[in-house]
Amino acid sequence: MNEQVPHDKSLDNSLALMREGYLFIKNRVDRNQSDLFKARLLLQNVICMSGEEAATLFYDTERFQKKDAIPKRVQKTLFGMDGIQTMDGEAHIHRKLLFVSLMTPPHQKRLAELAMEQWQAVISKWERAEQVVLFEEANDILCRIACHWAGVPLQESEVKERADDFSAMVDAFGAVGPRHWKGRIARTRAEVWIRAVIEDVRAGKLKAEEGSALYAMAFHNDLNGNLLDIQMATVELINVLRPIVAIATFITFSALALHEHPECKEKLQSGDSNYLEMFAQEVRRYYPFAPFLGARVRKDFIWNQCEFKKGTLVLLDLYGTNHDSRLWENPNEFRPERFKEWKGSLFDFIPQGGGDPAKGHRCPGEGITVEVMKASLNFLVNKIEFEVPEQGLSYSLAKMPTLPESGFVMSTIRKKILR
Ligand code: HEM
Repeated sequence: MNEQVPHDKSLDNSLALMREGYLFIKNRVDRNQSDLFKARLLLQNVICMSGEEAATLFYDTERFQKKDAIPKRVQKTLFGMDGIQTMDGEAHIHRKLLFVSLMTPPHQKRLAELAMEQWQAVISKWERAEQVVLFEEANDILCRIACHWAGVPLQESEVKERADDFSAMVDAFGAVGPRHWKGRIARTRAEVWIRAVIEDVRAGKLKAEEGSALYAMAFHNDLNGNLLDIQMATVELINVLRPIVAIATFITFSALALHEHPECKEKLQSGDSNYLEMFAQEVRRYYPFAPFLGARVRKDFIWNQCEFKKGTLVLLDLYGTNHDSRLWENPNEFRPERFKEWKGSLFDFIPQGGGDPAKGHRCPGEGITVEVMKASLNFLVNKIEFEVPEQGLSYSLAKMPTLPESGFVMSTIRKKILR
């Protein structure tokens, strides 16, 4: 076949990926005016794709699989070895239903309530402090609520260390060198801790409430009816706790958005819950968090005149699809109102993956993410007043994951008096 697919001619694009970060795929898609291109990354041939059609293709499980798609370095830090993210077929669906059952609307509501309680509980400490870094505070609060909700015992004296470990696992995903190693050490420590908790539950030394995440992971049976291996149960329980803590990134970007768009504040203050939702969705679309996803071609096929050869690694651009001007009018403008008319397909707005979460790998935690973001935004806008002192608020699109440099410093914090 005479392929018409753009091919990045560089010997290896890994350095360009590190330089361009979130924009690596989008820059080339825009330059080539093509939704896909071939390149070499980390010494292998890859196909990179972006846009709604590409996302639809990427979630076709007849054509793609997760087996061997996630680098070991990412499993050893972010995900844990051989967890749900690496599974395929029936075994994946069976495991996925376990996760989905823990993330239903009542669970979302409970986590949002816990978040609001915890935010309110820190106000008096914040009033006494000269300044606080929102990202750090959010990490601690989310770690407390994640463990409380899941049924995992957590002493107040442990909160900071555990929160920092969850955060370090996330921070390691795009890193080489010290940030990677910090993530590995953090994972080892968290696995030792959570494994002991599950062992205690299984041995009857610790009571886990039925319906809690701890109970569900400790007593889940795999497809063959066997209890999950202790290491697997540990990895999967961490797969619930860690991403709740990761919502701190979106909360920090929400505060930045509020600061940069004071015109939105009034609408958020009016208590209009639709606007709160639209604002949270626009934060998830506009700001960078998960950059792209990988899968391997299951069997040879041709799509858009491109040969997809069995075993090839294919990357789907999440950040670029959320900034695709065919899907989003003026994608580089922050405009929550766009979600008023948004019809929404399963493949155009994909900050946490695309497709049906019960059937594919899409994140099952989007409902939790949005509800916890809404509670946190409501707190920032309606429960406290604060100043934003001079600080570095820019964020680099080359660093993955990224964050406003300062972590968003707040000062002169006061409880809001309702008039
Ligand atoms: C903080 C914001 C979050 C972001 C940016 C995020 C992002 C993602 C992404 C990109 C995926 C991969 C989707 C795919 O492969 O198609 C994913 C999967 C997953 N997420 Fe999230 N997520 C977040 C929050 C959460 C929360 C709050 C939970 C649970 C409480 C969660 C649990 C999971 C699980 C278990 C998977 C694996 C699903 C599978 O492989 O089938 N995530 N997430």
